[in-house]
Amino acid sequence: MKALILVGGYGTRLRPLTLSVPKPLVQFCNKPILFHQIEALVEVGVQHIILAVSYRAELLVQELASLESKLGITITTSLEEEPLGTAGPLALARKHLCVDSDPFFVLNSDVICQYPFGQMLKFHRNHGKEGTIVVTKVEEPSKYGVVVYESSTGKIQRFVEKPKVFVSNKINAGMYIFNPAILDRIPLKPTSIEKEVFPVMSQNGELFCTELEGFWMDIGQPKDYLIGMCLYLNHLKQQNHSSLYQGSEISGGVLVDSSAKIGKNCRIGPNVVIGPDVVIGDGVRLSRCTILAGSRIQSHSWLNSCIVGWKCAIGRWARIDGVTVLGEDVQVSDEIYLNGARVLPHKSISSSVPEPQIIM
Ligand code: GDD
Ligand code: MG
Repeated sequence: MKALILVGGYGTRLRPLTLSVPKPLVQFCNKPILFHQIEALVEVGVQHIILAVSYRAELLVQELASLESKLGITITTSLEEEPLGTAGPLALARKHLCVDSDPFFVLNSDVICQYPFGQMLKFHRNHGKEGTIVVTKVEEPSKYGVVVYESSTGKIQRFVEKPKVFVSNKINAGMYIFNPAILDRIPLKPTSIEKEVFPVMSQNGELFCTELEGFWMDIGQPKDYLIGMCLYLNHLKQQNHSSLYQGSEISGGVLVDSSAKIGKNCRIGPNVVIGPDVVIGDGVRLSRCTILAGSRIQSHSWLNSCIVGWKCAIGRWARIDGVTVLGEDVQVSDEIYLNGARVLPHKSISSSVPEPQIIM
């Protein structure tokens, strides 16, 4: 089986992290977002993965070479000269998707959940129509694609991308399975699957949906990345997962890479992810945050609701909060307070940022 993953898009909403690394390679719970998806696809028998890329393909290719041999799969990159949107990339990859008559998966690269790929496949084969999408329920549907469907069969009646008025609270979760016939609907030019393809398929009675069980999040922006992290860690916690870090200084779901070092008398958790080669000083308090690879946090700092990018250095007695995101290699002096700051890579911060602000 095959899967195409939409990894284009500039990831602007996840800046400043995506100034250093393309969105699909940003680590989420100590693994690039893309790896979570690829591993789950391989579990249901996907052998060939096509990455639809519109920029910075080199980095992706490099990172994925190791995964290819480790998982025994083929990863092909399909590079767009101009961004082709969310449907155009399928037309560009036609020769890969049409090698046989099997259905194929298509994924947005920024969604995290317990991927229901087995369930999708079964449901899709049962109804026998052209496409299946996964839907989930959210409280704020206006920033997603909204779906109205017949609950007994899953047949979609309406699909509205980012509606201005309330339509429904069931939304497109960004995971699809299609028969190759869908390619006859998609021209080789910038095309939106949500605005130009799904509404017509629904009218034709060719688009069905299946409901997701459990948590779901589009982690394409910092606030949602942190919510997704909490949901993911909570899920591991409910399963009593062996990857969770244990210790007297730990509470709630916490992941710590084995190469990280944690000082004395810290309090860590709930909902904390500590990446490779991170060094945490004595008496540090961490909650609801991700610390990416190679960062150092000196003693007695207090961090909550933030993402610390790669190789940052945080001084002593710093206080960081309010969905602050530090880009790669940011230096924060002792005793600084950051509230909702977005700090671009390679900056040094020596005065506090008490209100949300972008530091360039
Ligand atoms: N190859 C390629 N080329 N990929 C692209 C392009 C492009 O030109 N533009 C966007 N993508 C990729 C993004 O990288 C992402 O993986 C996916 O397509 C969706 O784009 P987003 O920019 O993340 O869209 P969204 O989050 O606003 O909305 C989409 O996802 C929601 C669920 O998270 C839509 O599919 C909504 O309907 C859906 O509810
Ligand atoms: Mg998104």
